[in-house]
Amino acid sequence: MSDRYLDLVNSGFAGKLATQFGLPRPARLRRTDPARIDDPLLPGPVVVLGTGSDADSLATALLDWDLDVRRSVANTKVGAIILVLSEATDPADLSGPVTQTGSLLRALRPGGRVVVVSRPAAGTEDPATAALRQGTDGFLRSAAKEMRAGATANGVSLTDGVGVLAPSALGAVRFLLSARSAFVAGQWLRADGTQGAVPADWTRPLSGQVAVVTGAARGIGAEIVRVLHREGAAVVGVDVPAAGEALAQVMNNVGGSALQADITADTTAERIMDLCRQRHGRLDIVVHNAGITRDKLLANMKPEQWDAVVEVNLRAQLQMNEAFLAAEDLAPDGLRLISLASTSGIGGNRGQTNYAFTKAGVIGMSSALAPRVARSGGTANAVAPGFIETEMTARMPAATRQVARRINSLQQGGKPVDVAEAISFLASPQSAGINGQVLRVCGQHWVGQ
Ligand code: NAI
Repeated sequence: MSDRYLDLVNSGFAGKLATQFGLPRPARLRRTDPARIDDPLLPGPVVVLGTGSDADSLATALLDWDLDVRRSVANTKVGAIILVLSEATDPADLSGPVTQTGSLLRALRPGGRVVVVSRPAAGTEDPATAALRQGTDGFLRSAAKEMRAGATANGVSLTDGVGVLAPSALGAVRFLLSARSAFVAGQWLRADGTQGAVPADWTRPLSGQVAVVTGAARGIGAEIVRVLHREGAAVVGVDVPAAGEALAQVMNNVGGSALQADITADTTAERIMDLCRQRHGRLDIVVHNAGITRDKLLANMKPEQWDAVVEVNLRAQLQMNEAFLAAEDLAPDGLRLISLASTSGIGGNRGQTNYAFTKAGVIGMSSALAPRVARSGGTANAVAPGFIETEMTARMPAATRQVARRINSLQQGGKPVDVAEAISFLASPQSAGINGQVLRVCGQHWVGQ
């Protein structure tokens, strides 16, 4: 599942040729190195632009993360630019900070970050403020498409009543600055509430937590297991008996538990809960990752192809969630539910009416569950990957695969670890105020953007 073109253009001469002929030049992305978890958060200083108390407060808070925080720079390479617009009220307010951001872009190091902090347009009745906030969305999505050398631009949107120092706001800023958000581009994370807490140890925010991951034997699921474990959780992995050997290997490597079960079986939720009760006494995080495709044009779709996809990708999750939510004793701090959606469910995809139905379906499911789980401190969110290099996508015809992996702002496919990092973030205590949302991990895929 390697991208040979990416390797080639990053090796001297071929890179120059690609530039000469105007071909895509995907960069190697800045990702977390599990062996160097204490590496600095950013490859250089962070410049906080914007006026008002939010910009000052955020700049001060960033000092606690051992960052080199500046309010202006000249002739220095920078690791990140944070543009704080949460107190702006008039479109005319933007000219200064936006052009300052533009003038710094050439100084942004490879893998650098631009993070915009704003508020949702729906949170105000003042037309000028709403115009500025909605305008900021257009600005961010366009700026994200201009990033170079593996840099990304994303935003944090603070709902009314949520300050810039709320755990969910700080948590989102940190995630978007970090190497963990390598394949997240042109996206907003909305800090909806003030729940949660920043972790004592940012590298192990899931210490003491118990997580279940379905479809854990390979691909994205296996990587989710590794990242949740790296971040401190005890993990139970579930997969079909036919994948038992691979599952055992993945789970043994992290000292976790393997459960061979088909998620469409009525007894699977009970078996998961029994295992969690016996081994850990709790269950905090559920990652609904198992998924299948049965691609067919609608004109050729057979009932069994539609039904199989709906059973695995949607109905099993609906049924399991009800069982987990009924077992309140197992989740004393509330359940964190995370479902794998897909950009196909957002933008649609030819030949995938069944798959897109289920992937859009889990987005609807998560948003309906969000207020219910919030009552006990939990959250329900969806993560929508774009093109990720896995066995599932390796089965695509070669030409289609080449096109599919280039049509995003980063001009490459994501890796399973990119999806896993986003999931782990949405399971963490600092993201308890982020609820009912869809986080796209797609490099700003052209589909549905
Ligand atoms: P994969 O096909 O490599 O792995 C899926 C795993 O789920 C397998 O281990 C399989 O045995 C397991 N599984 C399937 N049916 C099951 C069942 N009934 N009970 C228990 N386990 C079952 O898939 P991949 O690529 O790792 O995808 C993981 C998730 O991410 C899926 O939900 C997929 O739809 C979603 N996704 C993947 C994208 C990609 O580019 N690879 C893009 C967007 C979403």
